[in-house]
Amino acid sequence: MTASASASASASPSHVKVHIPLGPSGYDIHIGSGLLGQASSYAGLPPSAAALIVTNPTVAALYLPPLREALAAHHREVHVVELPDGEAFKDAASLNLIFDALLRHGCDRRTLLYALGGGVVGDIAGFAAATYMRGISFVQVPTTLLAQVDSSVGGKTGINHPLGKNMIGAFHQPLRVVADLATLATLAPREVTAGLAEVIKYGPIADAAFLDWIDARLSDLRAGDLAALAHAVQRSCEIKAAVVAEDERESGLRAILNFGHTFGHAIEAGLGFGAWLHGEAVGCGMVMAADLSARLGLIDPAYAARIAQIVQRAGLPVKAPALGADRYLELMRLDKKSQAGQIRFVVITEPGRAAVREAPDALVRDVIAAHCA
Ligand code: NAD
Ligand code: GLY
Repeated sequence: MTASASASASASPSHVKVHIPLGPSGYDIHIGSGLLGQASSYAGLPPSAAALIVTNPTVAALYLPPLREALAAHHREVHVVELPDGEAFKDAASLNLIFDALLRHGCDRRTLLYALGGGVVGDIAGFAAATYMRGISFVQVPTTLLAQVDSSVGGKTGINHPLGKNMIGAFHQPLRVVADLATLATLAPREVTAGLAEVIKYGPIADAAFLDWIDARLSDLRAGDLAALAHAVQRSCEIKAAVVAEDERESGLRAILNFGHTFGHAIEAGLGFGAWLHGEAVGCGMVMAADLSARLGLIDPAYAARIAQIVQRAGLPVKAPALGADRYLELMRLDKKSQAGQIRFVVITEPGRAAVREAPDALVRDVIAAHCA
């Protein structure tokens, strides 16, 4: 895969657009500072009398007023529903709050739904849009680094089940993504770090030179340097656009975007959703998956060690919780990539290239033993 083959970007100093080329379902990711509160960011969307903004109290306190004002130029009625904040609430009860609001306000099939927040709000709101009246349109307005580089793009939507992460969901592409870099200034440092996990991911799987760039600019990224973050968001979106364009529904290639997620989802589910942030679990999971790649003889152990070092320097955990190897294997068998009970891992086959492989349980147990705290 050439990472930017199917993505196109047009640039001005303050506003970059990355296109997701999916034919009639294609759309643009708008990246820039201050976009959220500009009415022009939402121009050209299908006319609709009513809009519903889905958000949570944390994000609403910061960004609901400017979004509401910007949307007033496009919709006669702008309704709002606030979900409880946190991964622990990425569930059916929160989903139902959105359906309640849509029905209470008499929203029809032309209602536009806006997801204002991080990946939790985006995933639940997208799933509500995918299923309300068998599908309505929605716009992603991501306000975390993780959501701007990953979750708002590509149309994966869903909720968790107590037995497994993201187990219930649908593919449903947004009409547009409006990624306002200025919102990243209010993110807690721990959340910026969690977002960096998904940025780092794109290097080993698709663009070795991008990993070098991340390595060189890690302290700027952690410090919230706007130029560094702008490049990280744009390059991440370009890589994701190229992957999604080739394999929208994850029949093959798209699975590489789950590098580190097989171990990571087991950590999240094993500890209880919300104990570790998703990005933290993915960071540690990438260290384990890189080690597995080396133990399978696919990459030089020095490259796995380099990935681990970058993850650690990003401020992410590199020691996994001691859930026990049996519990890890049990949780990982539930992963959506598993086939006939056989766990399949995203492994690095060379710097900048990944594949999905099975691995002997004994080797996986070695990896778990080597990385558990
Ligand atoms: P999150 O949505 O929980 O947001 C993190 C925290 O930051 C929350 O407390 C939120 O209220 C707060 N917040 C959001 N924006 C803020 C801002 N600008 N300033 C201050 N606080 C702000 O977490 P996340 O890391 O954004 O997303 C994680 C979720 O994304 C997980 O559920 C994961 O499974 C999902 N995800 C989905 C995809 C996908 O393709 N759909 C990809 C990656 C991750
Ligand atoms: N975050 C994984 C995917 O979008 O496929």
